[in-house]
Amino acid sequence: MQTPAQTLDDFLSQIKDLNPTNLDLIRIIKAISISAIDIKEIIETAPISNMTGSTGKTNIHKEEIQLLDNSANTIFVENLMETQLISHIVSEELQDPLHKPTNSPSYFVSIDPVDGSSNITSSITIGSILGIWKLDNSEQINDNLFIPNSPQMIAAIYTIYGPSTILVIACNSMVNAFALNPAKKAFIQTHKNIKTPNECKYYSVNENYFLKWTNKTQKTISFLRDNYSLRYVGSLIADFHRNLLNGGIFLYPENKDYPNGKLRLLYEILPLSYIIENAGGIASTGKANPLTIKPSHHHQKTPLIIGSKKIVTKILSML
Ligand code: AHG
Ligand code: MN
Ligand code: MN
Repeated sequence: MQTPAQTLDDFLSQIKDLNPTNLDLIRIIKAISISAIDIKEIIETAPISNMTGSTGKTNIHKEEIQLLDNSANTIFVENLMETQLISHIVSEELQDPLHKPTNSPSYFVSIDPVDGSSNITSSITIGSILGIWKLDNSEQINDNLFIPNSPQMIAAIYTIYGPSTILVIACNSMVNAFALNPAKKAFIQTHKNIKTPNECKYYSVNENYFLKWTNKTQKTISFLRDNYSLRYVGSLIADFHRNLLNGGIFLYPENKDYPNGKLRLLYEILPLSYIIENAGGIASTGKANPLTIKPSHHHQKTPLIIGSKKIVTKILSML
């Protein structure tokens, strides 16, 4: 007889005893998974409930805030704060970090509530990205300008809202994936301890910037173009997820318009770097491993090269 598929709850009870922090982490993961189901339901009906438009406001990056960005941000913040474990939240959609003193231990969470939000108008796959850091008792946790160090990162999570709703969790040195059974509102495990293929199948980059790249970047992308298939959704998380499972490389290099690239260190690059490392791949800014950088600003940007070990190593040697 086939054994029943493991649910997210089964998985969480399995990791409960692996590490004393996991009891808190489990509550945080639950808050995120509940938020993902709420957000997925809003996305599904967005075209018929006038949720595909813009708020008419711009965020700190001078990008339009979509109605969906706002709703998803509120859902994550409310559910995470309800755990009473989170002292700091940094979000793409909040100019300043949220700070609420908690009883120790406390956690710092970074959120990209909707990644690829401009794709919502054409029903293209989007997602959410989150990073989780544990703060030491000794930290100045009453300082709302506080930014954690990468070694304190204990988990990273992303969701995909596409043909299926997917939840990917990196914690305890493993990457595991789940798909939502919407009828039961339950996530079911689909992948255990994901390791990204060493070989590259796809490269993902916006080649529209070709003339704005440095000569070295132009040469490396030309090499990729001559050897691999291009796939670019324009939702980082969808491109990342496909490459994680199939093998590939995603690049958002610096260009004349964006001297530090476009992607944000705390709520896009660090969570995905943490995930790819735990899946046996590599992330780099072109100069350093993002996980070794001490961020200087909550909304800091850096270039990103991320994916399968062999191709990222090759590309870094060409830059
Ligand atoms: P967000 O919707 O969170 O602002 O992120 C959009 C990002 C990322 O998802 C994507 O890879 C990138 O913007 C696309 O930018 P270009 O249009 O410059 O390629
Ligand atoms: Mn994003
Ligand atoms: Mn976003």
